[in-house]
Amino acid sequence: MFDLFGSFKKIPLPFFNSFDIYLDFGTTNTKIAVKDKGVVLNEPSFLGFNTKTREYIFFGHEAKNIVGKTPEFIKITQPIVNSVISDFDAEVSLIKNFFEKAINVYLKKYQLVKTNFRAISTVPYSTTEIEKKAVEEVLFKMGFSDVFLIDKPIANAAGANINVFSHHPNLIVDLGGGLVEAAITSGGGVVNEKNIKSAGENMNHLIANYVYLKHGIILGENTCELIKINLLNFTNSEKIITVRGKSLETGLPKSIRLKSSEIKESLTVNFSQIIDIIKELIEISPPEVVDDIYDQGIILCGGLANIPGIEKYFASELKIDVIKTKSPAETTVVGLLSLGKNFENITRLSLPKM
Ligand SMILES: Nc1ncnc2c1ncn2[C@@H]1O[C@H](COP(=O)(O)OP(=O)(O)OP(=O)(O)O)[C@@H](O)[C@H]1O
Ligand SMILES: [Mg+2]
Repeated sequence: MFDLFGSFKKIPLPFFNSFDIYLDFGTTNTKIAVKDKGVVLNEPSFLGFNTKTREYIFFGHEAKNIVGKTPEFIKITQPIVNSVISDFDAEVSLIKNFFEKAINVYLKKYQLVKTNFRAISTVPYSTTEIEKKAVEEVLFKMGFSDVFLIDKPIANAAGANINVFSHHPNLIVDLGGGLVEAAITSGGGVVNEKNIKSAGENMNHLIANYVYLKHGIILGENTCELIKINLLNFTNSEKIITVRGKSLETGLPKSIRLKSSEIKESLTVNFSQIIDIIKELIEISPPEVVDDIYDQGIILCGGLANIPGIEKYFASELKIDVIKTKSPAETTVVGLLSLGKNFENITRLSLPKM
């Protein structure tokens, strides 16, 4: 087992000493927070594996930055797919690296004192028991003495400053990299949920396909993501950027100019699918819940909620007020942090141990 927290003899204190770490295992980005310190890491959930030496050599930003540029023997992998762990060993290596970067600095004062290291993590509401177990096992393998799993929609609601125990229903939509999860929360639980796996990363692929078919150019994944972030908006502002890819015709580099309206067009179907699951969620909900949702409005979080004007677009499609959280991509982990201010919240909300 990776001995993150040290194994030498420790002095027990007369009072209960604990160190709490909050984790959001996102498909695209891992977010880690520490009690009283805030968010200490937000890095791509990417690794580079050297197939010759059979070890992971690149982690986080450095792995994501070289997607599409590596020699044959270095494979870039993502251990989280659609918000669940798909490669256990890779995930342990990634988290170990992230802890060395962002957590070890806080551990010095705990080296001699007996401490209860607690991990609090989220899982999508749709996660299976086996997938939940995988999250628990990764964290126990890291050396945590206790692991608490919280439904992601509940953490998101807390991150949106909602009192999650109140019986006023809220509809919150997490627009992430690998999963769009729309959920109605109330009274500390999830009332209903709908999700779709076509999220931010799928949009990068749709942009690649569109540019390939319309302009005859092959673009890399990172370029497509930059195009999405720089051009996509629902504010009708027409931005133009020049990008370079590989020409299908000649195999040589070729530059083209891309417009915001083209990127929006390439993603129309994906956004319609997202709107549809929200409509379905409202349709299957009891009338009292729907009434409250129409009063309160819908809350958007997750990285895609950063798209300028997205809340106005959703509001016009759904005919309900829509707002987004202050820091959309970090709402989940910020929600865990805020719940953890009173640890009783975590014990009340945590899912049964696997
Ligand atoms: N300004 C922006 N415009 C468009 N897309 C954006 C913007 N900012 C971030 N994104 C996208 O948001 C996605 C990442 O969001 P986030 O960090 O919430 O995902 P995640 O938590 O890793 O994934 P998931 O929760 O689905 O497992 C990426 O696809 C990224 O390209
Ligand atoms: Mg997420």
